[in-house]
Amino acid sequence: MDIRTDFPMLATGIIYFDNGATTFKPKMVIDSIVDYYSNYCSNAHRGDYNISLKTDMMYESARKKVKEFINAKNLEEIVFTSGATESLNMIAYSYFRNVLSEGDEVLLTKSEHASNILPWFRLKEEKNIEIKYIDLDENYRVTTENILKKITDKTKLISLAHVTNVVGDIRDIKTISKIAHEHGILVCVDASQSVPHMKVDVQDLDCDFLVFSGHKMCGPTGIGVLYAKIEYLEQFVPYNLGGGMNATFLNNGEVEYKSLPHRLEAGTPNIAGAIGLGAAVDYLSGLDMNLIHEYEMKLRKYLVKKLKENDKIEIYNENGDTGIVAFNIKNVFSQDTAIYLNDYNICVRAGNHCAKILKEEINIKNTCRVSLYFYNTKEELDKLISVLEDCDSLYNQIL
Ligand code: ALA
Repeated sequence: MDIRTDFPMLATGIIYFDNGATTFKPKMVIDSIVDYYSNYCSNAHRGDYNISLKTDMMYESARKKVKEFINAKNLEEIVFTSGATESLNMIAYSYFRNVLSEGDEVLLTKSEHASNILPWFRLKEEKNIEIKYIDLDENYRVTTENILKKITDKTKLISLAHVTNVVGDIRDIKTISKIAHEHGILVCVDASQSVPHMKVDVQDLDCDFLVFSGHKMCGPTGIGVLYAKIEYLEQFVPYNLGGGMNATFLNNGEVEYKSLPHRLEAGTPNIAGAIGLGAAVDYLSGLDMNLIHEYEMKLRKYLVKKLKENDKIEIYNENGDTGIVAFNIKNVFSQDTAIYLNDYNICVRAGNHCAKILKEEINIKNTCRVSLYFYNTKEELDKLISVLEDCDSLYNQIL
């Protein structure tokens, strides 16, 4: 059966190339959320009646599905958050705020998303830590050599994306973890752009922290995952305090927290989101994650080859490793290109894509970004390619 029929949004005829921002949702994910709200709507971990017990079971089974999907060792290592952004903020404020001292160094790259830079800037202000950037090579890649150049005896953390959201390069996290651990350094991975597209195995990567969002992997918005090795997660100091995370408290201020992961999920969680994410994991588990990556690479290579034949197009990541292609029509502001493509029902993202210091590396502030997913087709790319070839009307409009 054609996989595209699983996605109601694709029936609208829209050509959607903004999967790096969020993906469309298959019907089974939408149905799982409607089912929860229609048939067993209740809070989690609080009721002793049937619909609430079903909610507990569905919420916790979503956690188990996520654990298996990324091959975490322990169920307690999977914390539900609102998304990768909250997960990264929790790692910074609930863990690193307590273990970093003045002068300690955190290594980042200039192609990181804002969510993996701004929390560390905050800790720099608060704790007087140093932020250093690993140099990127001529293809904007991280190399082992360049990491080693930046490591000092003060380096405590390397925090970086598995796949970056504009360049689309894949970082060799397994090797990076090995080097980091040999130097007593921890590794935090933003896997928002990798978990939806390829097999990610946290035990194999041996990273210490890993985060991702549900909505970029066929799941709903407002749900995400924080994975951390249990020995570090145990040291997290909850910054959200309230119901669901405490076992007991007394009027003298004594509080006993619940066990992991519940002590890090205060308040009513995003139950519908977690159930939807569980359904998304089921959906992706029915596909072959390695084939998804291969298919997206095949599409990317075709797109890049065709765009290179168009001398009006400039590509910024010709040698990327994923289905992310950043380009501009020469002399045209990226947002004008996106608006022009919208006239043809084609969705791309334009701008700096929240990677605001990447411009220091690629020498261009704004780009158009095509980010592919397994439901995109060669025919859709052909439409994009022909609209970009025939862009004289755009020049006429803007000049
Ligand atoms: N971080 C998302 C993107 O790259 C929103 O588009």
